Amino acid sequence: MGNYLISGVSRGLGKALARTMLEGGDCVWGIGRSGERAVEDLIVDYPQTFKYLSFDLSNLDDIKSRIFGELITKDTPLDGLVNNAAIAYADLVTNMNTKPLLEMFEINVYAAFLLTKYTIRNMILHGRRGSIVHITSVCARKGFKGLAMYAATKGALESFSASTAREWGSRGIRSNCVAAGFMQTDMSASLTEESLQKIFNRSALKSPTKMESVARTVRFLLGSGSESITGQVVGVDSGA
Ligand SMILES: NC(=O)c1ccc[n+]([C@@H]2O[C@H](COP(=O)([O-])OP(=O)(O)OC[C@H]3O[C@@H](n4cnc5c(N)ncnc54)[C@H](OP(=O)(O)O)[C@@H]3O)[C@@H](O)[C@H]2O)c1
Repeated sequence: MGNYLISGVSRGLGKALARTMLEGGDCVWGIGRSGERAVEDLIVDYPQTFKYLSFDLSNLDDIKSRIFGELITKDTPLDGLVNNAAIAYADLVTNMNTKPLLEMFEINVYAAFLLTKYTIRNMILHGRRGSIVHITSVCARKGFKGLAMYAATKGALESFSASTAREWGSRGIRSNCVAAGFMQTDMSASLTEESLQKIFNRSALKSPTKMESVARTVRFLLGSGSESITGQVVGVDSGA
């Protein structure tokens, strides 16, 4: 049983993951932009082991004081971090606008980098052999029309993770990515039925990727059963 920080627990995959971890007896410190109402069910079901902070990760300068001060105090040792929170700015490259592009990089990339920085510091302070998992996407390596900018944020995390694994492996700190396939969440809700069918038909399993399957893979990578796995990108994508 361990202590885990997970971003984006207010809905979608992050919430499914938080529940999976809590059901397994772990403690979860969760972040999301929404107020506490979004996670009321988790607070009620796990009053002792689930803590939540409503925080907008685009406030990069406040990450240290709010998350690694207010939410996680110095005497809380972390065993793992999941960088899950993200937004998707979808458009053709030729239509790219700077404002949404920068906003997406702040949340998907820079905030994830900073959460990793302070998590590793926490692990070193407490002598923990921890595990970091970044949620990336099948589109980072396979490509998808209209998702070039979003895919690039996931590619950045995959590169960052590989070098983080090399940099901190000697301390027993691991870093991996889970590249998820198409999941039916709010993020993908704007896709037309035709686009959905196209995506499903391109996968070996001809079906969406189940959030629970991604969540269980992340839990495995966080735990001691995966102690020799680091610097990897694990695809959970229905065989895309
Ligand atoms: N859905 C897919 O098909 C798919 C495929 C591959 C990879 N992924 C990746 O899987 C992960 C989870 O995606 P999802 O589909 O579950 O997304 P989602 O349903 O849109 O949920 C996104 C989560 O991130 C949080 N978040 C977004 N911006 C934030 C900010 N500025 N500060 C704090 N929290 C913020 C949201 O909080 P609020 O609710 O408070 O806004 C929410 O909890 C993401 O990394 C995504 O890129 C998704």
